[in-house]
Amino acid sequence: ESPSLKLNTGASIPVVGLGTWKSPEEDAYNAVVSALQNGYRHIDTAAIYGNEEAVGKGIRDSGVPREEIFVTTKLWGTQQRDPEAALDLSLQRLGLDYVDLYLIHWPVPLNASSITDGNYLTFPRTADGKIDIDIEEWNFIKTWEKMQHLPKSGKTKAIGVSNFSIKNIEALLAANPDFIVPAANQIEIHPQLPQTELIDYCKSKGILIEAYSPLGSSSSTILTDPTIEGIASKYNAEPANILISWGASRGYVVLPKSVNPQRIKTNLKLLDLSTEDLEKINKLTESVGAKRYVAPDFSPFAIFE
Ligand code: A2P
Repeated sequence: ESPSLKLNTGASIPVVGLGTWKSPEEDAYNAVVSALQNGYRHIDTAAIYGNEEAVGKGIRDSGVPREEIFVTTKLWGTQQRDPEAALDLSLQRLGLDYVDLYLIHWPVPLNASSITDGNYLTFPRTADGKIDIDIEEWNFIKTWEKMQHLPKSGKTKAIGVSNFSIKNIEALLAANPDFIVPAANQIEIHPQLPQTELIDYCKSKGILIEAYSPLGSSSSTILTDPTIEGIASKYNAEPANILISWGASRGYVVLPKSVNPQRIKTNLKLLDLSTEDLEKINKLTESVGAKRYVAPDFSPFAIFE
């Protein structure tokens, strides 16, 4: 059985969860069924991934009782003004009564005023082709205010954020002392982007960190890094095991994405890495610096960080 961590709500959350970003519908369905039948109890999706229907069907068809599974989905930027309506639509697509965690996907609200066909799961653009950000009259603090009602509605057990910087979270917490403290902050983390300061900050506030793209997403070279490969062969494991175990040893949730049944199975296996090996991995960014692979063109890292 996969080890768990605790959210600030008291709920348990399995350390390793299946990521589903970039998994097309049919692949996502098969991946979810395969993961749940091979011991996963944690599935991560998002409205904008376009696969909630497949993910939900996979959950329902897996044979694993719903209450044993931790399910996360995320609020897309075009719906930040009405998180409850967005969550209702996600639940409808998933075919579930509730999710365990609902996250603001990015701190950036997107302008929905040009959307006339009801399809909010898009990247709206201005006339000159830029991503249409809704920051004149809206912001994530107003969104968080609206999210306060969701746990009471029973539609989600917990609420949290994703892609929030220290500055973002400081602003959110300072806005209202009665606000629910986010249960989680899901961010990109791998040895080329260790995020140590943000992790320590979130820990000090009782906000659980979740690592997405723990294998460096599809565009990085971390899976073929000689240091990682060297450590992997020593443990008779795959590079992915080293990257996932490094994350788990740092005390947060790790969400490797895969649609391949063999790799899905491999990724659940956590290794007890030696302090020396962990240190070697920690040093990987020393010469080259940190590198972010997931930075969309509405990048909050440029706007809000
Ligand atoms: P696939 O879905 O075909 O397995 P991340 O979680 O960092 O975004 O990384 C996901 C990428 O890593 C995907 O391209 C995925 O491809 C690949 N991947 C997932 N698990 C493994 C593994 N154990 N070994 C090698 N590549 C993997």
